[in-house]
Amino acid sequence: MDENNFIEPLTETETEDDVSNAEMPVGAREITSDYDPSDTDTRRYHAFRSGRYCIPNDEGEEIREKVQHDMMKELLDGRLFLAPIGDNPQKIIDLGTGFGQWTIEVGELFPGAHVTGIDLSPVQPRWVPPNVHFVIDDIEDDWVHDNDYDFAHIRFVNTVLKDNETLLRNVLQNLRPGGWIEIQDIVPRVLSDDGTVTPEHGVTKFYSLLDPILREHYGYNIFIVEQIPDMLRNLGFVNVQQRVYRVPLGEWARDRRLRIIGGFLREILLEFFNTMVSRPMVESGTPRPDVEEALRQATIDAHNKRIHAYMTIHFIFAQKPEI
Ligand SMILES: C[S@@+](CC[C@H](N)C(=O)[O-])C[C@H]1O[C@@H](n2cnc3c(N)ncnc32)[C@H](O)[C@@H]1O
Repeated sequence: MDENNFIEPLTETETEDDVSNAEMPVGAREITSDYDPSDTDTRRYHAFRSGRYCIPNDEGEEIREKVQHDMMKELLDGRLFLAPIGDNPQKIIDLGTGFGQWTIEVGELFPGAHVTGIDLSPVQPRWVPPNVHFVIDDIEDDWVHDNDYDFAHIRFVNTVLKDNETLLRNVLQNLRPGGWIEIQDIVPRVLSDDGTVTPEHGVTKFYSLLDPILREHYGYNIFIVEQIPDMLRNLGFVNVQQRVYRVPLGEWARDRRLRIIGGFLREILLEFFNTMVSRPMVESGTPRPDVEEALRQATIDAHNKRIHAYMTIHFIFAQKPEI
């Protein structure tokens, strides 16, 4: 997939065919989803450092993470990362590994490397390649595990941390000279090249409601990815590089592969919004009608193929100086 290219939309006729062939009204499936603000206990959350991370760690989240993993690999034509780490890394660490899919696949790719995945939740599979290990720990704590890593990988984690700078400083200290870090994440801004996205877009409005809640109640900055290249340079990383991919939100792109990726992104995002509704928004006391309306509008707009919305996914990689 090429980075940062213009995305050609379906033609008006193709869009029309698509809309009229839809099995159900736009957005109907998600609108009738299981949202119920009194329902916060029905999902499972991490126990270690309870309350630190506000997304569940249950089967629903496992499915969401799997789709997200597939989307990221599709975007990179099957690759797991972009940093030029060479063919023979010895030690790799995945920070905030989640269900561990990336970690396991990297372990299979480099059977000679020792690969460690760290997370707050013990949700990783038990049977994994012999060179892969999982550790339950808070990556924002002082670093007590190994050092001299060739490669540190962080995907979809920076936006849920309180203190990115400390984490990145720890990574710098624990990489071997010449070792690489790679951060992969989305910037939650909804954009278009043809003016079809307005400031009233439902996904933008949902994020405007969510952003202050996550900032105040959890200390997260959902736009942090935009600051990371400078942060890395200021901390002393060198060779800081960034690749930005435009990813359609929904299935409006002419290119079949982009349509699939766009469908993945829409589903991941709306499922994420559902999890935000069932914890942070309830806990912050946001009125139920406001939450319902925001979710409804986001769902409708994300399904509207006449809105040519895209978001950007950033791959940022950098190196610890050789000396
Ligand atoms: C959105 S998931 C991403 C998982 C995985 N990196 C991926 O790309 O599929 C974020 C993960 O970060 C973990 N996490 C969040 N804060 C953490 C912390 N302070 N220490 C360790 N793990 C953390 C969560 O438990 C969750 O599994």
